[in-house]
Order: sequence, then C-alpha cells, then structure tokens
Amino acid sequence: MKLKQVSLGGIATVIIAAALVAHPQTAETQTQQFGGVDDLAYADALWAALAQAKLAGPEAMHSHFYEGTEPHGFVLEIFDSELSVNGHTGRVIVKNNYGPQGVDAMDVANDPAAHLAAVTVMFRREAGYDTDNKNWFWAKYLPNGSLDQNPAGMQLAGRVAKGADQGCIACHSAAPGEDYLFGTDRAD
Ligand code: HEC
Repeated sequence: MKLKQVSLGGIATVIIAAALVAHPQTAETQTQQFGGVDDLAYADALWAALAQAKLAGPEAMHSHFYEGTEPHGFVLEIFDSELSVNGHTGRVIVKNNYGPQGVDAMDVANDPAAHLAAVTVMFRREAGYDTDNKNWFWAKYLPNGSLDQNPAGMQLAGRVAKGADQGCIACHSAAPGEDYLFGTDRAD
C-alpha cells in the first residue's frame, strides 16, 4: 500500500513538471495573438452585432447555399456586409459552414439550423489592430455564438493564429489580391 502511494506521487511530479515546461511556450507565442480576454470580449460584441443585423444567431437571414470544400464545410453560405462593433464600422464577411459530410445544398436549404456546424467570421478592425494582416479580426463560432477551440483548447478569436504555419491567417495569406480573401479582391 505504501509503495503504491509513493509511485503515484512520482507520476504526479512528472506530470506537473511537464506542464510547467509546456506552458510558457503556449503563453508567449500564441496567447497574446488570439484567445485572450480582450479577444473574447470583442468576439462577444461582434456576435451581438451580427445577431442584431440578422447575419448570425436565431433570426439569421439565409442566402444561396453552395457546395464547398474543407476546411470550411461541405455546404457554405456567405454574407459580405458592413458592421459596427464598439463604435468602429468595418467590412464583415460571414461564412456559414454546414455539414456533415454527404449533405448537399438542398438538404441544407430545407433545414439550415439542423446542419449548421460553424460560423467563421472576418471583421476589418481599426487601423493598427494587426497591420501585418490587414487588420482582420478572425473568429470561429459554434451555432450558439460560443467560440470554437483549437486542439490546444485556445478559443478561436483574434489574430488566429498569427505566426503559426496553420490556421486562419496562414491559409488565407495565400488568397489572391493580398487581402486575405479568396472570394473577392476589393480594396476594402
Ligand atoms: C486550410 C485553409 C483555410 C483555413 C485554415 C481557413 N480558411 Fe477560411 N477560407 C479558405 C478558402 C479556400 C476559402 C474560400 C473558398 C470557400 O468558399 O471555402 C475561405 C473562405 C473564408 C471566408 C469567406 C471570405 C473569403 O476568403 O472568400 C471567411 C470569412 C473565412 N474563410 C474565415 C476563416 C476563419 C475565421 C478561419 C479560422 C478559424 C479560416 N477561415 C480558416 C481556406 C481556409
């Protein structure tokens, strides 16, 4: 009995040590860019403004449904508009991601709410927010307006994932026109 306790203590020490080593890396390289307290507050304000404009939430409008590809989903729907958040007005692009695999546009059109998997949003924030990346604020919401998370448990809102070789910014930086948008190359 005594031996068992000792060995459990040993395992716990190893786990704590591993956590201490892993933590500073995540905190310094990524937490500042997205998923922080300010990002979550801003994401809430953005969702509230989207819901008010009926661009998301229970009263959301619908548009044309079309078949898409990963990572955004099998059927997609897009809104391109202007929105005011905390006193700043900017362009907003909402991409609704529908699934699961195998659904077609007609299935989704017949019952959008039942097929909505995620709401991915790009909002053009004020100058200076992220000069390197055209000041886009990125967010991936679940249908109820809460934020989705990456595998490391970080909430997907803010400069996602600035400096990383995967994620919203890395992939969208390949979009033509250097505006991070695949769908259009408009100036702003
Ligand atoms: C692996 C690449 C990839 C990643 C990662 C990715 N996207 Fe996209 N995204 C695309 C592609 C390709 C399109 C355009 C094609 C389409 O309709 O799916 C697109 C379209 C969009 C659009 C519509 C505007 C446009 O560019 O045409 C929004 C908004 C969007 N993505 C948001 C996000 C957000 C937010 C994230 C991160 C949570 C993200 N994307 C991650 C590839 C990616």
